[in-house]
Amino acid sequence: MQQLKIDLIAAARPNFMKIAPLFHELNKQPWCKLRLVHTGQHYDKNMSDAFFHDLGLPKPDLHLGVGSGSHAEQTANVMLAYEAACVADRPDLIVVVGDVNSTVACSLVGSKLHITVAHLEAGLRSRDRCMPEEINRLVTDAIADILWTPSPDGDENLAAEGVPAEKITRVGNIMIDSYELMRDRIEARSTRQELGLADTEYGVVTLHRPSNVDEPAKLTELVAQLKSIATRVPLVFPVHPRTRKNLETFHLWTELVDAPGLQVIEPLGYVDFMNLVCGARLIITDSGGVQEETTYLGIPCLTLRTTTERPITVTEGTNRLVGTAELGETVDCILAGQWARGRKPDLWDGHAAARVAADIRQRLLPPLHDETGCAAQPRQQAMGNA
Ligand code: UD1
Ligand code: UDP
Repeated sequence: MQQLKIDLIAAARPNFMKIAPLFHELNKQPWCKLRLVHTGQHYDKNMSDAFFHDLGLPKPDLHLGVGSGSHAEQTANVMLAYEAACVADRPDLIVVVGDVNSTVACSLVGSKLHITVAHLEAGLRSRDRCMPEEINRLVTDAIADILWTPSPDGDENLAAEGVPAEKITRVGNIMIDSYELMRDRIEARSTRQELGLADTEYGVVTLHRPSNVDEPAKLTELVAQLKSIATRVPLVFPVHPRTRKNLETFHLWTELVDAPGLQVIEPLGYVDFMNLVCGARLIITDSGGVQEETTYLGIPCLTLRTTTERPITVTEGTNRLVGTAELGETVDCILAGQWARGRKPDLWDGHAAARVAADIRQRLLPPLHDETGCAAQPRQQAMGNA
């Protein structure tokens, strides 16, 4: 049987939850051969290995070990290493996910080598080009051959940018697949109890956007707000390494750690983090993925940003964009029970990976049988490979 060689690209924390369901689905298919590539953009144990373990992913076939750096350094280092890997062993299809620097770097490599590139989580737009991720999304979607979108706004954004409809397939939200795959283990975990939060209302905080954590004045204001809120509802804050580095540099770390009602902890693995989220009264975040998970779970989410590339979490879900100054009063609304319940968006159902697999099969492999029931000849590849 003809086998497609598929590279799955993983790089940073949110990628692992997008790659894992796809890996497990494609690994069952006799028509493809997978190569799991980790670019090494995230490398701390609790930003990388913990997720491979939690999500049942094997050791990557290829680890590019690029690490941190400026945008240009990181993007260029991924390109150099991944181009060499593709030249040494050329895949038929490269699957990139999300919007991190490694996503755009690997898309550029594939595109220039005329390898078919597919983008999972295509079409999301914040329309804020100060976000590095927005540039990554625009470039990746402009050059990818196959665009898998999570929601109708993705299709609309791509159409408005002139992407031909035949390149787009709406597959739903892959993050929800990870949650459903792990649901039993998430429910069985005792993270809430271990943090002393089993019988109480509490909030969870995650922050890592440069717009929130890279400026001393902004981060100082946020720390003051969190300290004040923690006197009314206990907060748990697993701190991202970028944020920790800045809290220490701006001399805010001790103040945060000593604040009454606030538990400052290391970043959590996926299963522990979701156990914590599932029991929370509210979430305060600037994460992309957490906006989606809270909408799926019906948990109030306050997003500390002026825009979101995931507007469906606001229009249909439980998410609201808030400024730092209004954070405290908005938390009080939630504690008083004033919050929309929201609904689960269509195709956020745990079956996105199966739809992706079916789409790959349909687009890139010959049909199993022609109309007479005879085995069909391989059809010419429609995309990418010039
Ligand atoms: C990156 C992504 C962002 C994503 C986030 C998920 C880009 C441009 N940004 O942001 O879209 O939302 O990941 O978490 O791709 N660091 C460590 N250990 C690690 C990783 C990072 O200490 O394992 C520290 C380093 O000091 C590094 C800094 O965090 O310089 C930032 O890491 P980087 O991957 O460049 O960006 P993130 O802020 O993590
Ligand atoms: N997450 C986690 N542990 C944490 C914080 C977040 O497992 O301590 C998970 C979260 O459930 C979601 C993903 O990480 O699935 C989101 O990643 P992140 O916020 O780093 O990136 P973004 O989605 O903003 O790109």
